[in-house]
Amino acid sequence: MNIRKATMEDEKAIATVHVESWKTTYQGIVPAEYLAQLSVSEKEQLWQRGLNQPKHSIFVVEEDGKVCGFISGGKNRATHGKEAKYEGEIYAIYLLKEAQGKGYGTKLVKALVDDFQRDGIRSMVVWVLADNPSRLFYERLGGEKIAEGIIDIGGKKLTEWCYGFQLCIDEI
Ligand SMILES: CC(C)(COP(=O)(O)OP(=O)(O)OC[C@H]1O[C@@H](n2cnc3c(N)ncnc32)[C@H](O)[C@@H]1OP(=O)(O)O)[C@@H](O)C(=O)NCCC(=O)NCCS
Repeated sequence: MNIRKATMEDEKAIATVHVESWKTTYQGIVPAEYLAQLSVSEKEQLWQRGLNQPKHSIFVVEEDGKVCGFISGGKNRATHGKEAKYEGEIYAIYLLKEAQGKGYGTKLVKALVDDFQRDGIRSMVVWVLADNPSRLFYERLGGEKIAEGIIDIGGKKLTEWCYGFQLCIDEI
């Protein structure tokens, strides 16, 4: 297992993990038609933009030289509400199903938090669907639920929760 900063060459691998992990994670939560139409090439364009953003921190985790997960984060996008008081945000964290439960997620968060601390970011948020059992991962890392919202995905209204963290590197 190896964690490193993502490069422009990782665009396709990240897009592939993104689509695969969405399909396994959100089956039964997000409408099946929406999941079926997810395309790696569309996500590639999204990640090309992300990887070109100097203020974006993106890390990948590899197993046997193959990317099996990633995390992306940066400045908090919230403009109002309690969540806007936090400085940073995890935009996305996804591992392939077979790479989950091995501690990689915790290590990816730590890599991002190291970057945040170097940039003087001392708090962060993450949004997660209330129906996603992975939200317990954020609770395990010490996140506190600070807000709730509604998001429309593929025509279905879903509740999402926002977790807030005060960053103390030793605690992660
Ligand atoms: C969420 C995710 C990034 C966590 O990474 P991971 O490598 O699987 O988690 P770790 O092995 O580092 O687990 C850390 C702790 O969180 C707990 N945890 C992780 N996922 C959990 C889950 N789904 N349910 C309950 N607890 C969970 C682990 O049990 C572990 O607790 P412990 O320290 O007491 O053993 C990963 O499982 C994943 O990609 N899930 C699918 C995609 C997803 O939901 N992404 C988040 C979208 S907002």
